[in-house]
Amino acid sequence: MSLSVKGLNVSYGKNHILKDINLEIESGEFVSILGKSGCGKTTLIKSIAGLLETDNGDIGIFDKNVAGLPPEKRQTVIVFQDLRLFPHMNVEDNIAFAMKLKKMDKAVIKEKVEKLLDQVRLSGYEKRKVSRLSGGQMQRVALARALGAEPKLLLLDEPFASLDEDLRKEMGELVRRLHRENGITTVMITHDKEEAMALSDRLALMEEGRILAFDSPERLYNSPKDEKIAAMLGDVNLFCGKVEGNTFTSDIISFKTDKKPGKYKLLLRPSELDVDNKGELGIKVSLKQISFGGEITELILEAEENEYKVRLPYGEFTKAEIKNGDELRLISRKNNDFILLEEEG
Ligand SMILES: Nc1ncnc2c1ncn2[C@@H]1O[C@H](COP(=O)(O)OP(=O)(O)OP(=O)(O)O)[C@@H](O)[C@H]1O
Ligand SMILES: [Mg+2]
Repeated sequence: MSLSVKGLNVSYGKNHILKDINLEIESGEFVSILGKSGCGKTTLIKSIAGLLETDNGDIGIFDKNVAGLPPEKRQTVIVFQDLRLFPHMNVEDNIAFAMKLKKMDKAVIKEKVEKLLDQVRLSGYEKRKVSRLSGGQMQRVALARALGAEPKLLLLDEPFASLDEDLRKEMGELVRRLHRENGITTVMITHDKEEAMALSDRLALMEEGRILAFDSPERLYNSPKDEKIAAMLGDVNLFCGKVEGNTFTSDIISFKTDKKPGKYKLLLRPSELDVDNKGELGIKVSLKQISFGGEITELILEAEENEYKVRLPYGEFTKAEIKNGDELRLISRKNNDFILLEEEG
């Protein structure tokens, strides 16, 4: 086990922030922590890195209990959102910082720095002052510096949050490649669900100081255990219905199921719905809003109290010939592997 957190509680004064956190991460895994602002993500990784005092609980890093160990003895490195590079130093000195502290041989340091610069595609920037780099380049130096400390556990606290979308994607790819090449167990905090799902072996979903779920992106997305978890990974449309005698019935669709009788909500993602302007099946809706987004067009549809979101691929939207105010039928494009969430109570 590369990281094992058991029954961890952390408070700031009287505020109980982390509540009984349990997390076990395998060696070499890439795990993302996803959750709203203020839910305790940074507090969690700071506790792991030894930057905060904990109330109680155990933290093990590579099977060693790190209680009482200072940050530098935990073999972890954090890359913070604000990077915290040394502005007066050049790129090379930033990256070599931890190696110099360890009194490594000069020639070895030089070789390692060269390799890291090559890995983050910054060869030739050795002597550049970090204050004269672009945002994306600074991000790369921060990653190289973190890797230069040869951590066993790499902790990334929203390292790309301030970058524009293209650069974010590029940095995401870079982190994925660095993870593959170096095999370092990595825990990354992010607000971005797509990024989290794309990069991670497993996702920890956090809310108000607790971990709600910890599983692979596919399992969390395809078999969420409740509405809240489903909604944390993407937009949802919910349709009330019931199971009676092996059949689920709802306004939008009915199908055979082996779920036990009772009330359920059928979950359909925006891309799993379609609109129809000819048929009689499905739910009567009116088209409230069209947001053209190039590849995908998003529709907001209304029916009585309910609002639904549908996403159509480019070709299908143009073919559908629909406009705001149209009365349409909302239908399901999905016809198997339905997600039924049991209604509580
Ligand atoms: N030094 C501190 N002193 C007191 N309270 C703090 C301190 N740092 C954070 N908090 C509080 O602890 C809670 C969790 O903060 P934390 O920084 O872990 O959230 P986060 O999930 O990382 O949020 P964000 O996504 O905005 O970075 C918040 O309510 C925050 O106000
Ligand atoms: Mg934070």
